[in-house]
Amino acid sequence: MAKLQLFFQSLFVILAAFFCLSHADVGTAAQYKAPYLPTACYGNDSSQLPSSNLFASVNEDIWYFGAACARQYLVRCISAAQPGTCKPGQTVQVKIVDRALSSVSRPSQNDATLVLSTTAFEMIANPSASFINIEFQQ
Ligand SMILES: *[C@@H]1O[C@H](CO)[C@@H](O)[C@H](O)[C@H]1NC(C)=O
Repeated sequence: MAKLQLFFQSLFVILAAFFCLSHADVGTAAQYKAPYLPTACYGNDSSQLPSSNLFASVNEDIWYFGAACARQYLVRCISAAQPGTCKPGQTVQVKIVDRALSSVSRPSQNDATLVLSTTAFEMIANPSASFINIEFQQ
């Protein structure tokens, strides 16, 4: 009954993935380039940008009337259109500094959940990609 065995193995993998992901959210990430201004969160006060350059802007769901400002998120690349884009096992922590809808520097693609600085993006994925699937958690 190889088929039945395969069925149970698949079920196990799906359940394991579900429980493993249950404390993190799944979304997408784009990237944005300099010049960086934390306009929506800090009225262009550049001293609010972490010196590590690990920061991000957020889409409207996460923005939620500015509630997202200054939050820290752990972000991991899970897949992308182009195989091999994600850097396996890499996670980056970013500070939320802006709203993607109105950022002065525009996202590489609209509608991403998070828009990472180039420094943050290239820590988890091939920097030539413009859009990746991510798992993120506060
Ligand atoms: C922030 O800078 C941008 C670009 O220079 C400018 O268009 C915008 O009005 C500034 N916003 C604030 C709040 O100073």
